[in-house]
Amino acid sequence: MTARYITTPIYYLNGEPHLGHVYTTVAADVLARYWRLSGAEVKFLTGTDEHGQKIAQAAEAAGKEPQEFVDEVSKEWFQMTQTIGSSQDQFIRTTQPDHYKAAQALWERLEAKGQIYKGAYSGWYSVRDEAYYDKSEITDGKAPSGSPVEWLEEESYFFKLSEWEEPLLRFYEEHPEAILPISRRNEVISFIKGGLRDLSISRSNFSWGVPVPTDPKHVMYVWIEALTNYLTALGYPNTDSQEFQTFWPNVIHLMGKDIIRFHAVYWPAFLMAAGIAPPHRIFAHGWLLHSGEKMSKSLGNVLEPFQLIDDYGLDQVRYFLMREVPFGQDGSFSEETFIHRINSDLTNDFGNLAQRVLSFIHKNANAQVPTPGEFTHEDEELLAKASHLHESLRDHMNAQALTKYCETIWAVISDANRYVDHMQPWSLKKSEDPQDQQRMGTILYVLSEVIRHVATYAQPVIPTAAGKILDQLAQESRDFASLKSPLKAGLELPKPEGVFPRVEVREAS
Ligand code: ME8
Ligand code: MG
Repeated sequence: MTARYITTPIYYLNGEPHLGHVYTTVAADVLARYWRLSGAEVKFLTGTDEHGQKIAQAAEAAGKEPQEFVDEVSKEWFQMTQTIGSSQDQFIRTTQPDHYKAAQALWERLEAKGQIYKGAYSGWYSVRDEAYYDKSEITDGKAPSGSPVEWLEEESYFFKLSEWEEPLLRFYEEHPEAILPISRRNEVISFIKGGLRDLSISRSNFSWGVPVPTDPKHVMYVWIEALTNYLTALGYPNTDSQEFQTFWPNVIHLMGKDIIRFHAVYWPAFLMAAGIAPPHRIFAHGWLLHSGEKMSKSLGNVLEPFQLIDDYGLDQVRYFLMREVPFGQDGSFSEETFIHRINSDLTNDFGNLAQRVLSFIHKNANAQVPTPGEFTHEDEELLAKASHLHESLRDHMNAQALTKYCETIWAVISDANRYVDHMQPWSLKKSEDPQDQQRMGTILYVLSEVIRHVATYAQPVIPTAAGKILDQLAQESRDFASLKSPLKAGLELPKPEGVFPRVEVREAS
């Protein structure tokens, strides 16, 4: 099985983590957990972006030295990953020495290839976005993102982005799935076709950054430096290592659509110019909105994720984020849709299925996985649905279709619920006929086997609850390969407990 290298954006430290950051990090975590359970070699990277004018300003506002400021704030961001159950293999900070080394090495490489020249920049810059904008993009003193821009005139180094129009278009032509969803790919392609101008890649009006190796009056533009984190984590500039060779060709960059231009235009151009392959996959998801606007630190309209987790539980929040908004599209959040979703999918559909089957076994089948008799057509049909999950789930994950991943699992949960209602094992219990007793055992076996499958596949999304259900099924091996052998009859099962408490809708106050 192939390797997978999954990255989130490295987040700016000018505010606290909100639901939007949690969203991307959970999505990346789901992918990482899924591929680990598939037996792939996985590296999952997240971290913090600690340089640039915006961070320097935030440090100043806090009355701190930049380094002291980022050391403090990055701890909160690391803590966020712990709180949301993120299983990253590495948490990178752009103030670490190996990152300076990698960023400067990339600069030197580009310079050696004749891709950098010195000039003067004059144009519109947004500190909030740490981005340059074209005159045509500015309306009423604002960038398309709504951020204020300022006129900037300074000596600057430039990257010859204009030379990469054709190679980028050719690359995306030859790799139709390098950018997903397809709508994003089309946007990127039309942006490139609109013409690329050389990019200013240094700043000299402030100093909080990685110095340009050949001219330390300048610091590297925060984006060229920040993007390099994806290489730093693989030991760049050493590209011969096993780690680099294994993971770089299998990278999946996950991010919100706000920063697709940096990842899908600038980044592959820098890479190609440095003689490194462009990313295998760039997936830009949509925005979580609040009252119709993108939730953002700068706008101050963010939802506090940790309160939600405290109130309703981590798996509930993770499931909701992955299931409610089709991954790739924008979506609004409300506490009402949240409560409805978790009560219906988790408490009713999945929780009740597991709870009624397992407590029935506990009370009426000696607390053991029953030995099945002959399977009926309906038994076979349900078992086949569970065992075929494998292929469709794999395809969804390969396309980062995280919402479809959940839907596909929950469709089998619904089938299993219909099967229980139809088979009514509890009515067989009352019969004295040994054949009915045997039939009851077979039904319970089929259901336990289906629950084992769906719980195993649900682990990436709801690791704690799925783990508890697998405990209640006395399962030791929990990777996907373990599903190749049938559930063992005769296993002693512990006393089951519900895993998803029902949430009462609060009275409007
Ligand atoms: O852009 N909905 O950092 P950042 C969905 N440092 N996702 C959201 C969101 C929302 N409302 N708000 C934020 C930066 N995000 C740079 C990245 S990478 C080399 C450098 C998520 O702190 C989403 O993933 O502004 C978005 O792309 C990211 O946070 C922006 O984080
Ligand atoms: Mg931002």
